[in-house]
Amino acid sequence: TGGRWSRRSALGLIGAAGAVGVTGGFAAGVARDDDAAAPQESVVPFHGRHQAGITTRVQQHLYFASFDMTSTATREDLKSLLADWTDAAARLTQGREVSPEGATGGGPYKPPDDTGEALGLEANALTLTFGFGPTLFAANRFGLESKRPKELVDLPSFAFDLLEDRFSGGDLCIQACADDPQVAVHAIRNLSRIAFGRAQVRWTQLGYGRTSTTSKSQSTPRNLFGFKDGTANVFSNDDADLGRWVWADGSDQAWMNGGTFLVARKIQMLIESWDRVRLEEQEAIVGRDKARGAPLSGGSEFTEPDFDVVSTAARGPAIPADSHVRLAHPERNGGARMLRRGYNFVEGNNDLGQLNAGLFFLAFVRSPEQFIGVQRSLAQDALNEYIRHIGSAIFAVPGGIRTGESVGSGLF
Ligand code: HEM
Repeated sequence: TGGRWSRRSALGLIGAAGAVGVTGGFAAGVARDDDAAAPQESVVPFHGRHQAGITTRVQQHLYFASFDMTSTATREDLKSLLADWTDAAARLTQGREVSPEGATGGGPYKPPDDTGEALGLEANALTLTFGFGPTLFAANRFGLESKRPKELVDLPSFAFDLLEDRFSGGDLCIQACADDPQVAVHAIRNLSRIAFGRAQVRWTQLGYGRTSTTSKSQSTPRNLFGFKDGTANVFSNDDADLGRWVWADGSDQAWMNGGTFLVARKIQMLIESWDRVRLEEQEAIVGRDKARGAPLSGGSEFTEPDFDVVSTAARGPAIPADSHVRLAHPERNGGARMLRRGYNFVEGNNDLGQLNAGLFFLAFVRSPEQFIGVQRSLAQDALNEYIRHIGSAIFAVPGGIRTGESVGSGLF
């Protein structure tokens, strides 16, 4: 990025110890892995055929925001908001301030355009991914009824759902991922500020510690149950799988070309109950071994599970009938796969001193049917005793943004 203008070089901080050192230390504490050996792009291109933040190497931190348009917002407001968000996102993801005026602009009657807390920080691989919820296409709102992709259904109720409105739904979403949480939070904060009067935040989710990989050169991280998560994912170098299971080309809506659908589920994990379960049983519930992530049918982490292997000790299938991996596996679900890109969250304790913690599950799919099928299959999942789905949202994620265009310009 030689000669590139950035918040950091603008402050003359090149070579200073601050940001990079702090980020590196925190990331190392979250996931001890071989990331140092993997390419660490610090600036991810904003423009392209697909939006960034989907097949992009999974960054360490997430700040996700769901927005509702304000009750008085018009179609023109939506159009101008998406244009303004695009301009700002194109700058922020390149490590710049939100506008040329920046954090030190403004004047006697105008605060600075940029809130300033990311001054001196690199882009930290920030990606900003935009999506549109079903309610955006409702009748008598923005005249977008005929633009709703047929795949964009409202998710049905599932067994064990305990959904709360305050963690669910939304007209619009922005997924901000970065290797420094401050950079992700700064981006959402400034995009919310730009939306003032046109859209407002409905709910947000801070996630630390990725729970998946999009490439085998990144080691598989662990979720809060201590198991490797993301072993059997759709990987960014597998164009055939991406074409079949992630990119929504061929949707009835041309504006979805290069796009995808995003399912977000806030899943509370009953950590204290799980921690009282014997290791053997934990492994039987997941269907994989805890230390290495290998399937209980044998082999190593990336060996395909063999559901026919019988275990004399377990007096039945080595990978039990009600194990998570067996029920989520493509073999059981008409081949369906999904690109999982979730994050851990910890939000303090409840009145009993138990952790409010879990998995913010994010999956990108060519059609939400893939998620619906797997989630229905998971009704039998032994894991259900230890988790609760408390939030749910679904979004159509339009294709990538070309230079000079705005996100979702194909809607108008
Ligand atoms: C696999 C944990 C929720 C879909 C796995 C694995 C673990 C895991 C440890 C094995 C490693 C891997 O292949 O990634 C969890 C936990 C959950 C959760 C702790 C909730 C807190 C979900 C949900 C879905 C899902 C809601 C989708 C509806 C999958 C799929 C696989 C998988 C598709 C790969 C199965 C395969 O191909 O072998 N999960 N999961 N998971 N999970 Fe989950």
